[in-house]
Amino acid sequence: MNTPLPLGLPPATAFYLCLYLATLVVHLMFMHYVLAGSIYLAFGRLMGRARCQACRWQSILIDWLPFATGLAITAGVGPLLFVQILYGREFATANLLLSHRWMAILPVLIVCFYLLYLQKSAWIARQVWVWRPAVAAIACAGFIFIAWSWTENHLLMLDRAAWPGIYATGSLRYESAGVLPRLAVWCFLAFPSLAIELAWQGRLLGDRLDEPTVADTRLTGLSPVRRLAVTSLSGWAGTLLAAAAYWPAIPVAAREAIIGPPAGPWLTVAVLGLLIQIAAWSVALFSDRLSYIALIVMTAAWVAALLGIAVVRETIRLTAVDLATGGELHKTALGIGGLPVFLLFAVLNAAAIGWSIRLVRRQITSGNGSA
Ligand code: HEM
Repeated sequence: MNTPLPLGLPPATAFYLCLYLATLVVHLMFMHYVLAGSIYLAFGRLMGRARCQACRWQSILIDWLPFATGLAITAGVGPLLFVQILYGREFATANLLLSHRWMAILPVLIVCFYLLYLQKSAWIARQVWVWRPAVAAIACAGFIFIAWSWTENHLLMLDRAAWPGIYATGSLRYESAGVLPRLAVWCFLAFPSLAIELAWQGRLLGDRLDEPTVADTRLTGLSPVRRLAVTSLSGWAGTLLAAAAYWPAIPVAAREAIIGPPAGPWLTVAVLGLLIQIAAWSVALFSDRLSYIALIVMTAAWVAALLGIAVVRETIRLTAVDLATGGELHKTALGIGGLPVFLLFAVLNAAAIGWSIRLVRRQITSGNGSA
């Protein structure tokens, strides 16, 4: 690997790797909303009824988390398909070794999904306040468990030397120095994404983030814009600290690839995206305003940073797994066809989703909706 990814790979392999990375980035965007959103709510609910009711971001999260979870799950299917084409043997082996422990993500996901609906139900509104922090905390713990499972499964894929031992002992856990710091990277990295996503939601729902804040929307001394700025900036600080803790657990060859030709340019893209977001949020923090232009710039920087991080993440895996061995399989898969049918259904589904969204918007704006 002496050229920036995906250059240097056989065309069929590069094609699937690009699809995998593009779909993974979309999964990350929604998954971040769910992961950071559930953590935000679990801690936010501890501020007590009056403050929670005054917090615009908590109300948006309560309303939208169930839908966002549906999006995160749906967006997970794309990379799930491509990861099996690219790394079928490693992925399946890690799944089988972790066995019930791995499959536990499904019931946990279902329970969390229902808890999110319970959180916005009329039933919970009638109960004593303590139910709300309790439900939020359980849902949050469930999502952290799911994130932990993906991280553990991912690292086990890369550690062939650990496979026989886990198989022989029947252990359902994979312990490695990298699991916790890597999981921490994902948890903290979710907050800058959440801040941008909430800012867009607030704007689209009619909030004026580009005007001085009305005093009664301040919570613990912070305006809504400043709360988002603190969310993003502390998320980045946590990400950098967790990444520093994870660095020694990354094999030397992978570290060299990260700062070398395969991922170096992508790392630069990620760092630039990070710096632009930090600068834009710092301005918002001091001025207590977030202009439309600043939001667009930080969104572009955010997408670039996520893409850069996804490629850096992939580089670590590529130093452990030789993609060239699956080259023939990727070529065969590409030759099987079906792309026109896929594209046709992608267009039809996008149109159906767009039409549904329009319909709901029209119902809401005409006042007929129950939302
Ligand atoms: C909403 C709950 C979910 C959370 C919190 C979550 C979290 C994560 C995390 C943290 C990673 C990165 C793991 C790592 O690199 O260490 C990841 C990767 C991934 N997730 Fe999700 N995920 C969720 C749901 C799903 C679902 C339901 C699917 C499948 C339909 C899915 C598919 C994937 C795939 C395919 C990857 C990449 C795996 C790899 O490349 O090894 N996720 N997820």
